[in-house]
Amino acid sequence: MRALALETPTTFRDGFRHGLELSVPVRTAAPRVYAAGMGGSGIAADLVRALVVAETAAELTVVRGFALPRAVGPRDHVLLTSYSGNTWETLRAYDAAGRAGATRTALTSGGTLAERAEADGVPVLRVPPGLPPRAAIGHLLGGTLGLLDPLFPESNEGRVAAVSPRIDRRVRRFSAPDGAPAQLARSIGERLPFFYAESAFLPLARRWKHQVEENAKRLAAFDELPELLHNALVGWDATPKNVARRFAVVVLEWAEGDPSVRTSVRYLERLLRGRGVRTLKVDLAPEDRLEALLEGVVLGDLTSLHLARRRKVDPLPVDAITRLKAAVGHATGSGSFPATATGVAD
Ligand code: F6R
Repeated sequence: MRALALETPTTFRDGFRHGLELSVPVRTAAPRVYAAGMGGSGIAADLVRALVVAETAAELTVVRGFALPRAVGPRDHVLLTSYSGNTWETLRAYDAAGRAGATRTALTSGGTLAERAEADGVPVLRVPPGLPPRAAIGHLLGGTLGLLDPLFPESNEGRVAAVSPRIDRRVRRFSAPDGAPAQLARSIGERLPFFYAESAFLPLARRWKHQVEENAKRLAAFDELPELLHNALVGWDATPKNVARRFAVVVLEWAEGDPSVRTSVRYLERLLRGRGVRTLKVDLAPEDRLEALLEGVVLGDLTSLHLARRRKVDPLPVDAITRLKAAVGHATGSGSFPATATGVAD
């Protein structure tokens, strides 16, 4: 898992190159794209959305579940991402997109999604098989950015080449025995971590939460700045000191973010420290959002692996998810969840 995390910048570049070759058709000045996927697959489009929202006139809606929004129609494109190709929510979204008349692309290593897409003449971007889905993030993230490259006013090709050496250098530093991931894991210790980020970097906070849960097999939470200052703040303020000791707040901060959010975050940190909550700040790589996201992913993944090691748990298996898929996925034999059992309209 550690080797795979350290390879992320390389697999990202490969994925981007392959994605470019299969770029999605962009038909209007302000295109609408929907991206459906779950867990370690769904997060890729969510991370790319952080770039799309800030840098393009396109709308990218991330769907985590069976149903697509009713607005999806023939002018839209739907990207279906499932590493295994057998996740029932994504397979249902695939069908729903077909019924809505949208154009589709599948991003997968195989499974039912690849089979069905190929039979339907839907383009498939294949990523290498045999990995835990969440550890295929470089392929999935790069693939998604490559596929969606036409949404950007200028291709990301030059940008990927420019940020790559910087990311490689920093990632090498992360692998040192007392590098940033090891230090972060030590500071979090056994505390329940809350990952906080400004709206633009919220998918990164979500990724950190996922990775702590799946790799270190323990609970974590994430929340959005500045919104949380209008609700969670009250909860923290009322947390008694003997309880507050059990929590750590990790703020993922980007230097180019909104200065007024930073001022509020400093206020929050003072309040938290006053209550005895462990507060940690992660400075994401400055300047380029893509660089900040990619480096943030690797840092979070390695931190979660250090947390796993501290607990002496194997980060690789996710038996609880495997059991769930076996229990409900077998209902149809194809990984599809029966419509009647969910009551979800799609
Ligand atoms: C496992 C993992 C999970 C899966 C999720 C969906 O490594 O990250 O969150 O990603 O269960 O499965 P796929 O990605 O195969 O569609």
